[in-house]
Amino acid sequence: MILITGSTGKVGQQLVAALKAKGAAFKALARSEASLSALKAQGVEAVKGDLGDPASLKAALQGVDKLFLLSSASHFDRLEIAAIETAKAAGVKHVVKLSAQGASADSSNPLFRAHARAERALEESGLAFTILRPTFFQQNWVAFYAHAIKAGQPVYVNAGEGRMAWIDTRDIAAVAATALMEPGHEGLVYDLTGPEALGYVDVAARLGKLLDREVAYVPVSDAAAFQAMKGMGMDAWYAYGMVTLNQGVRRGMAEPTTGTVELVTGAASRTLDAFLQENLAAFQ
Ligand SMILES: NC(=O)c1ccc[n+]([C@@H]2O[C@H](COP(=O)([O-])OP(=O)(O)OC[C@H]3O[C@@H](n4cnc5c(N)ncnc54)[C@H](OP(=O)(O)O)[C@@H]3O)[C@@H](O)[C@H]2O)c1
Repeated sequence: MILITGSTGKVGQQLVAALKAKGAAFKALARSEASLSALKAQGVEAVKGDLGDPASLKAALQGVDKLFLLSSASHFDRLEIAAIETAKAAGVKHVVKLSAQGASADSSNPLFRAHARAERALEESGLAFTILRPTFFQQNWVAFYAHAIKAGQPVYVNAGEGRMAWIDTRDIAAVAATALMEPGHEGLVYDLTGPEALGYVDVAARLGKLLDREVAYVPVSDAAAFQAMKGMGMDAWYAYGMVTLNQGVRRGMAEPTTGTVELVTGAASRTLDAFLQENLAAFQ
């Protein structure tokens, strides 16, 4: 039995769909009553729980031998490290952790350092592990920028002219489902990317062509991005993580592509063009 955390998010929703399609035995952790009901309405076995509440996680882990671990809060490493300990005590054998491209204990990016701390804790736990390090999600365009694009406003990011090998979260989910359901993925770290590196300016131009109107990208300074994110209520730790993420993009950190999605799943990674075509309605 598999337990999925983050099941309502950009990766988790796709993992629920992938495991359902494969007929896997799994349950999904949900934090709110609304998420719990929505998952149950899809015919998914769902359990209430929060990574910040070890007792609820312990209860959710009853009968579970594999855990998909994902979280997104500030200082998420604390939640994940505690979850790894709870999982081990509950008899879980294998954890597949969603990390990020660039995770490193030496990084100046607090998000990358946090992922590295959780990765290290998992590796040292003695549990079987598989670590997924994806690059930027194609789904970010719907989650973060569609609102502005719909309203005819520019997309403002401090990414300069940096390019990223955007990945479809369905490909991350396909890799996760394979690692959770088939042997041979224990002890491995997978760098996951899409097939093509594109800058914000390239994506805006392609989207503009599909929508038959101008979609503008405006590169902004690190300080302007930091202040804007703090103004939206983001704490300094997370906002600095997002700013340094894009400093890395400007240095070319997110440009390299890997063939790891195909190596693991047998299917080539999905293109951003296909994603934009499929999700055009979100930008109109
Ligand atoms: N976006 C990117 O381009 C990108 C690239 C590489 C790596 N990543 C990594 O991907 C992860 C985020 O994945 P995502 O974008 O799929 O997530 P997301 O869409 O932001 O959703 C977060 C999920 O985590 C759940 N969650 C948050 N805090 C929780 C807690 N305390 N207990 C239980 N569940 C909790 C949320 O549940 P609720 O619905 O209840 O809030 C939701 O299901 C992060 O670790 C990030 O560093 C992101």
